[in-house]
Amino acid sequence: MKIIASQKQGDIKIILLKDKKIPKDLNKDEKEVLEFYGFEGEGSCLVSQSKKFFVGLEKYDYEFPNALSDAIANAICSLKKLKIKSISIEVEKEEEIQKICFGILLGAYSYEEFKGKKTKTTLKEIYLNSNKLDEKILQQRILESEILATSVNYTRDLVNTPPKQATPEYVAKYAEDRAKAVGFECQIYDEKFLKKEKMEAFLAVARASVHKPYLVHLSYKPKCAKEEKLPKFVFVGKGLTYDSGGLSLKPGDYMTTMKADKSGACAVIGILEAIAKLGIKAEVHGILGLAENMIGGDAYKPDDILRARNQKTIEVRNTDAEGRLVLADCLSFAGDLKPDFLIDLATLTGACVVGLGDYTTGIMGYNKKLKEEFAKVAFEVGELTGILPFNPYLKKLLKSEIADLCNIPSSRYGGAITAGMFLGEFVEESLKDKWLHLDIAGPAYVEKAWGMNPFGASGIGVCACVEFVKSKAK
Ligand code: BES
Ligand code: ZN
Ligand code: ZN
Repeated sequence: MKIIASQKQGDIKIILLKDKKIPKDLNKDEKEVLEFYGFEGEGSCLVSQSKKFFVGLEKYDYEFPNALSDAIANAICSLKKLKIKSISIEVEKEEEIQKICFGILLGAYSYEEFKGKKTKTTLKEIYLNSNKLDEKILQQRILESEILATSVNYTRDLVNTPPKQATPEYVAKYAEDRAKAVGFECQIYDEKFLKKEKMEAFLAVARASVHKPYLVHLSYKPKCAKEEKLPKFVFVGKGLTYDSGGLSLKPGDYMTTMKADKSGACAVIGILEAIAKLGIKAEVHGILGLAENMIGGDAYKPDDILRARNQKTIEVRNTDAEGRLVLADCLSFAGDLKPDFLIDLATLTGACVVGLGDYTTGIMGYNKKLKEEFAKVAFEVGELTGILPFNPYLKKLLKSEIADLCNIPSSRYGGAITAGMFLGEFVEESLKDKWLHLDIAGPAYVEKAWGMNPFGASGIGVCACVEFVKSKAK
């Protein structure tokens, strides 16, 4: 689907009803049809005689950023079933452009790789009409939105890919392919390198799988600015291509969807892709920790004690708390790049989903201002977040009698925060106030469509992180 800044009328015109208000200047047909269907501004209604599709915009009694995108996404899902080639929508304000584009491009996505019967649509062009906005600005915003949405959809595809196919090696190669196609660097490190770097925590998690682990280092620097000191970002992604729980095996119904435990790493690929395409003036790195958490004769065990790359020892009491072990070594590696901003994305805890629900990312870290800044930027680009506060009482729960730390807390409560504080132990002192931990366990993969997100992978984190880099870039 192509979005075009144009005054052309489409085969169908979308009429947005702000606050669900029905316009007064309806013609006779429109009045009759809307009345016939009892349409009062809730949902949508097609009047084929006048080729208008009326879409009601929900009004909320709390702050919510996605009313417009979600309404457009719903409309597109209905309209792509009709035998039409084009649609037009009237845009009034600059800030509406991205919301409308996201609604169209993110709303129209579905994962059909393995479906015998694929959805066919004749709908190819969407015209954004505006007599108020400068056409150049309109065109520019459309292009930016398309770049972002395409990266989100690539991320969704990769997360949705089944674990039989999307092994650590496959994800590493996928990252390399994207890097070549878009123009950023990609270095793939294998097990030998992990051993040389003494990443015993990362290696232990991966050991029982027949699919070998990889650490991937992606990097991007804009070509133009050589002398300028650019802000440096490092994104670290949890890339468990499958999380069976290991010997602390997950019960069957908790194991399904665990192909999505690679969502953090997949989002990091999407972030680099969008940043490189947009040519943002920042130095951006991505570190992917790719492994599979399996059972087997060689599996790491509860009772093992592991020495992480930063020399801290970890008592393993549950092999299902594996993400933090992989990330411990990746964060230590990322710290060596001396970033100005260090951000990890991980489907880290079920506790975060219990606390915030399916649709919200948990933000954690030691820097209050940084957490709030990130939350604001995320909200503006349509990602919901909640800040979960660290405290010393919860940190005490990670104490071990026989090692420096335990990989699970001694209490069932506050699991998202204790996992975040565990990660903090692998962020060096000088970087603590530059670090953010994003627990995306809730929104990364949801087994029902929500707003502009489809069943399955959402690509959460891509838009928020790209916008955050943009907000700090030169
Ligand atoms: N990958 C899971 C977390 C998860 C749960 C992601 C649900 C998405 C949806 C993680 O590795 C895990 O298993 N965490 C455990 C930690 C526990 C053993 C302390 C959990 O949350 O139950
Ligand atoms: Zn796990
Ligand atoms: Zn996991």
